[in-house]
Amino acid sequence: MRLLFLGDVMGRAGRAAVTGTLPRLKTDWRLDFVVVNGENATSGAGLSPAHAQVLLNAGADCLTLGDHAFDQRDMLQFIEREPRILRPLNYAKTAPGRGHQLFEAKGGRKVLVMQVLGQVFMKRPFPDPFSAVEGVLRSHPLGGLAAAAIIDMHCEATSEKMAMGHFCDGRASLVVGTHTHVPTADTQILPAGTALQSDAGMCGDYNSVIGMDKGEPLRRFITGMPKDRFTPATGEPTLSGVFVETDDRTGKALRVAPIRLGGRLQQAGPDGPL
Ligand SMILES: [Fe+2]
Ligand SMILES: [Fe+2]
Repeated sequence: MRLLFLGDVMGRAGRAAVTGTLPRLKTDWRLDFVVVNGENATSGAGLSPAHAQVLLNAGADCLTLGDHAFDQRDMLQFIEREPRILRPLNYAKTAPGRGHQLFEAKGGRKVLVMQVLGQVFMKRPFPDPFSAVEGVLRSHPLGGLAAAAIIDMHCEATSEKMAMGHFCDGRASLVVGTHTHVPTADTQILPAGTALQSDAGMCGDYNSVIGMDKGEPLRRFITGMPKDRFTPATGEPTLSGVFVETDDRTGKALRVAPIRLGGRLQQAGPDGPL
């Protein structure tokens, strides 16, 4: 299967990158299934139902969230009605929605998607992500009902994300990190066949501080004093993510490539640098 994962969509610029590019990519790259992280799509904080619909209409088959899952309050109700949106598996026990789902891709093939929050350097303590993932992987063995499995590991530390990759090696098609908004250069297929990239990067304007207009973050770093709110940068966006091709029988990765299209970052596509 040919799978695309896109990192955190950041505000208006990020939404524009997805709506302007994804429909064409689905055809040109013959994509079977697309996952988009939408946790920052609405003003950089959370995902509104209207913006979720925009990303789904652009061709996302599944939207994942993150620590900002419910910054937009309407998502608390909307996620119960829209099974294509996932919140982290190990979010609060009482949280609405779900953290994993078996989706149907082209040709009836099933794709397992889950999202989990890490613990290192996160503002709030979340329950152990490794045991949360273990439970879902045990009930959905790769190459069984699930022809492919994608795990979105949402956290700060690359060490924790790489550890999750090795923890899932041979049991998932792709472990990809989100949350930092900066793509890592460690794209690889692990020894037992799981593709890993510690962070997918964001879909947003990189003439910014992780997607936010530079002024206020710089002021806070330099003076230690906040003055304004953070607002998403609105310049030319880069679409950042990971492309994976999997073996339909085993679910393991055959090929993995970082994706960076448009904007300021060095460009990369499924067949290498562009
Ligand atoms: Fe994010
Ligand atoms: Fe996040």
